[in-house]
Amino acid sequence: MGHRYTAWDGFYKGTRFIDELESLGEKLACEVFGSDWASLRPLSGHIADTIMVSTLTKPGGSILTVNPSNGGYDGLGNRGYPPFVNVKNLFFPYDSERMNIDVEKAKALIEDEKPSLVVFGQSYFLFPHPVKELSEACHAVVSRVAFDASHVLGLIGGGEFQHPLNEGADLMLGSTHKSFFGPQGGIILGTSPLKSRVKDQQFPGLVDNAHWNRIAALAWALDEVRRRGTKYAPQVIANAKTLAKALHEGGLPVKCADYGFTESHQVFLDINGEENVNRFSEKLEEANMIVDHGIRLGTNESTRRGMKARDMERIAELIVRVYKGEEPSRVRRAATKLRKEFKTIEYT
Ligand SMILES: Cc1ncc(COP(=O)(O)O)c(C=O)c1O
Repeated sequence: MGHRYTAWDGFYKGTRFIDELESLGEKLACEVFGSDWASLRPLSGHIADTIMVSTLTKPGGSILTVNPSNGGYDGLGNRGYPPFVNVKNLFFPYDSERMNIDVEKAKALIEDEKPSLVVFGQSYFLFPHPVKELSEACHAVVSRVAFDASHVLGLIGGGEFQHPLNEGADLMLGSTHKSFFGPQGGIILGTSPLKSRVKDQQFPGLVDNAHWNRIAALAWALDEVRRRGTKYAPQVIANAKTLAKALHEGGLPVKCADYGFTESHQVFLDINGEENVNRFSEKLEEANMIVDHGIRLGTNESTRRGMKARDMERIAELIVRVYKGEEPSRVRRAATKLRKEFKTIEYT
């Protein structure tokens, strides 16, 4: 299917199996996420975001998101897509201690500014966002409510974290390859009134031909989440909590220790100073432990490999050894040995 085309007007012939695949994939997505409709066509999470912004704002309108300086998504910030379509950026008042939106101040800002579109969700995402608490205020001033689930899609698919479409969001979208263990790509899920508006905006303006080999893989992953998601997602979160706690007890500065560290698959290390962050993440890399610059750790891949609480403690131990100054090449041997114990893929 990797180079085939299909079109709604039947322009291309011989597409019956592709069309069947698309309907099946969309049906599975609606079942997994409790949406009225789905599109599996966006080529990435970012493309899903551009479809959302183009559909739900007009030039001169505004979009309210988490500021990238608070862990919001850059692609929706003022260096991202909104300025391209002349949409003004507004940012949620944010409590950086709790790593979450300040509900009361956000309510006041929504009432004052009446943004065209309010987007919950962020890239550095530890705790559920107050969609339920704020969606009524948004709808009262005719703001559309969306949720960028790029990072937490697999948790939501497994019934964890939060359920934005039941909490007042009109649209949910995201990447399909982060905590959701599908192929690299994007997805949009929505409530009925927006279906034709989003799909008309998507094609042919922002996605012309979709990638059917990817969509076949995505349909397969959706079926795996449908069957195994309720086992996978709680284990991912439990692993993140165990990892955070063990790192904290090992003496590392872990963000949000007073608030239970995390309710997602992510754990943040709160290391001061750009240079220290770089030095530590490079040392970890020398020890075969790859983290990002945040420093942000995620337990989704290790969970899919079958790791449980005890394995998180073992990973934490290795990270602590590097933190305390042990030679990375010595820790690397232990990291490689640990990784080799997990040769299969679980929740499949
Ligand atoms: C919140 C959020 N939305 C969208 C994206 C873009 O997703 P993609 O990489 O699939 O284009 C990212 C990227 O990490 C993200 O963090």
